[in-house]
Amino acid sequence: MKVWSVANQKGGVGKTTTVVALAGLLAELGHRVLVVDLDPHGSLTSYFRHDPDELDHSVFDLFAGDPLNAAGLEALLLPTTHEQIRLMPSSTALATLERRAVGKEGMGLQVAKALRQLDGRYDHVLIDSPPVLGVLMVNALAACQELLVPVQTEHLALKGLERMVRTIAMINRARRRKLRFTIVPTFYDRRTQASVSCLRQLHHQYPDEIAGSVVPVDTKFRNASVQGVVPSSLDAGSRGIKAYAHVLRNLLERPTS
Ligand SMILES: Nc1ncnc2c1ncn2[C@@H]1O[C@H](COP(=O)(O)OP(=O)(O)O)[C@@H](O)[C@H]1O
Ligand SMILES: [Mg+2]
Repeated sequence: MKVWSVANQKGGVGKTTTVVALAGLLAELGHRVLVVDLDPHGSLTSYFRHDPDELDHSVFDLFAGDPLNAAGLEALLLPTTHEQIRLMPSSTALATLERRAVGKEGMGLQVAKALRQLDGRYDHVLIDSPPVLGVLMVNALAACQELLVPVQTEHLALKGLERMVRTIAMINRARRRKLRFTIVPTFYDRRTQASVSCLRQLHHQYPDEIAGSVVPVDTKFRNASVQGVVPSSLDAGSRGIKAYAHVLRNLLERPTS
């Protein structure tokens, strides 16, 4: 079982879209996929037509009460519009977690521990994380073997990325196996100077971390989210999906460290 986290300390950069796009592509390759919504806003949960305001049980249960075994964890999961993809949903209660977690030990490893219980049941786990550095993001970074950082190709993107890179360095001081990250440039529009110069800057500053493909602006992603389906089931040939497929292929072919 391989765990991927998608994170950036900035909203609206394509994190949730990256999770659903890759989940769909992995499912179409025949993999059993679990997606985990660690964002209190619950965008991933809403994407798959579940209401985070209405859920009594969610990923919040990993942080409250006794540790759950595999059966208990499976009972938290919800179906999605794709039969090969299961969802561990977010709920509104998650918003109270940062306050509750203050000063409590071991809160950063709750997701990692839970996912270990599910080892063997899923081939890939994709974690969507909130845009703030807190206990939830720390959990996402501690639980994964691969980290994807979507970066919107625009002027202010590099500042946000630098913040994220500092966070990864901090997490790596506590990790036995160092976490490497892959930058996925998103919302690329080659007609705009901002996109072009930002991409050039990314290649210059992060030559080893940048993905081999760039995700362009593609309205198909919004259309897919309106329908609640994974983007590749709507239009596998769209430019945006082809870019994600390319990023995924490179990552799957890479030897695990
Ligand atoms: N490459 C893209 N082209 C066009 N629209 C996109 C693209 N990626 C994401 N979007 C849209 O932009 C909005 C924000 O994306 P989202 O994935 O929710 O960002 P985040 O999770 O980082 O806040 C969504 O409405 C989504 O459909
Ligand atoms: Mg999101």
